[in-house]
Amino acid sequence: MINLIQWIGEKIANATNISVEEIVTYIEIPPNEDMGDYAFPCFKLAKTLKKAPIAIATELKEAIALDEIIEKIEIVGGYLNFYTNKILLTQMVLEEIENKKENFGANQSGKGKTILVEYSSPNIAKPFHIGHLRTTVIGAALYNIYQFMGYHTVGINHLGDYGTQFGKMIEGYKRWGREYTLGENPIDTLVDIYVRINHLCKEDETVLEICRENFKKLEQGDPYCVKIWNEFKDLSLKEFQKTYDLLDVHFDSIKGEAFYIDKMDEVIDKLENKGVLKDSQGAKVVNLEEENLGVCLIKKSNGSTIYATRDLAAILYRARTYHFDKCLYVVAYEQNLHFKQVFAVAKYLDIPEKCLKGLEHVSYGMTRLTTGKMSTREGTLVKVDALLQEAIDRAKAIIEEKNPTMENKQEEAEKIGIGAVIFNNLCNTIIKDQIFDWNTILNFNGETGPYIQYIYVRTQSVARKVTHLPNITDVHFDLLQDKQSLKVITLLYHFENVLMSVIAKNEPSLLARYLIHLSQAYSNFYNENKILNEDKNIQNARVYLNNAVGTVLKTGAKLLGIKMPNKM
Ligand code: ARG
Repeated sequence: MINLIQWIGEKIANATNISVEEIVTYIEIPPNEDMGDYAFPCFKLAKTLKKAPIAIATELKEAIALDEIIEKIEIVGGYLNFYTNKILLTQMVLEEIENKKENFGANQSGKGKTILVEYSSPNIAKPFHIGHLRTTVIGAALYNIYQFMGYHTVGINHLGDYGTQFGKMIEGYKRWGREYTLGENPIDTLVDIYVRINHLCKEDETVLEICRENFKKLEQGDPYCVKIWNEFKDLSLKEFQKTYDLLDVHFDSIKGEAFYIDKMDEVIDKLENKGVLKDSQGAKVVNLEEENLGVCLIKKSNGSTIYATRDLAAILYRARTYHFDKCLYVVAYEQNLHFKQVFAVAKYLDIPEKCLKGLEHVSYGMTRLTTGKMSTREGTLVKVDALLQEAIDRAKAIIEEKNPTMENKQEEAEKIGIGAVIFNNLCNTIIKDQIFDWNTILNFNGETGPYIQYIYVRTQSVARKVTHLPNITDVHFDLLQDKQSLKVITLLYHFENVLMSVIAKNEPSLLARYLIHLSQAYSNFYNENKILNEDKNIQNARVYLNNAVGTVLKTGAKLLGIKMPNKM
């Protein structure tokens, strides 16, 4: 299918000798159709071409030959407005969706490129909190979308399984482990034990000393300490897996921070050889003050390494293992400085330039709760599996009320409840803090996951009522030229562009917003146009449009990690 932005970009690039890549970033989609389907603001080139915008517009208009699909170009102010032939556009879009079905919108722009997406990364023996839910959902969506665009994609879970606190945990477990049945509620139990041992450490210096000893032993591979630590890890992972199953999220590689312990010496050697590792009160640091990033601690005065050092070792390991073009870290904005520092130090690791440039922190905002039984507690204390279960229960209650005779209520409630939570995590610019409110996220008429699912279900119930459809080549595309139909067609046409901008900005909310707009446009189309029982030619054309919307909604939702119910 012809990419019209690209088409316009190439024509303007040819006429001006400015790169297509630059030109396409300036092309706009005007807010109302009277101003054309695409607009090019000529003032953007005024400086480079040393001409007035109007003069540029006039010259470009003369230089660009019209095409079947671009049928008119007009100059308004300093803008060039392009008008597409709508019947051709309709035909092109509906034929393409009919031929490609659930692959409509996919392309191979990422072919030959490897992208690592690091997401979720909870800490063992600690709760999987609502912030971890958000990275999991955002990361999984990015993973899916990059893959859809032809990238070789690797999903990484960088578990927090290392740190001095494990010296304490081991001691607590040794003392009181027998009092608990760890299998039942392992994380709650481990947190309990941790709180207890912390108290004791504060009261009794000698216990604290023993804990420090334990950590040293763990680092040196003492069999008893390693065995207990492995148990913590297994139990925690089993618990996290329940959440991953509910969300249907997967990883290609699960590696804890501990995996990098024996890989840190090399990092330190490299920094030393480059002459950037400095002593500071017994500790080793890299000074980043010239870049306004303070100092990055690499090794503490007691010789132990820290979080940042393990991240540096992971960069080295990943560059060698995957030769990645991009490595995304989906981590909350509290860690902005950490990643700036780590990326700044990474330039001393001798990794290929493309890997260095490809390091990117995909930063996201906090979630706050307003209602529900967990409202009064801090987000970090909200247990995600309980929250997902509550979402399912609430969805089921809504179904019971709206559609009591429905089949497979449990299965559909899972899709709706989980879909609502996922959508809520993706529907606003991810860097913004967001509010979690049960009534909003489960509102079937709001800008929500369930709303998109509801519109999808409607398209499917129309489709089920149609027994015969002619071949797409026999469809009268000229019967879909009313305002509402054209709005839907235009949106369908833009699906691929939307996916491209999601990966250009690492902003899955663009797809979430798009699916809302498509649903709303379909709803207007549906209200204005009777799909069934009209003149057969009209019916056929509208059913094709209906089915196309169903296909794109389903594909888009799937890319976000949302499943479509059969009934609602
Ligand atoms: N485990 C950390 C946390 O829960 C997040 C890890 C982020 N990834 C990284 N490579 N540092 O806060």
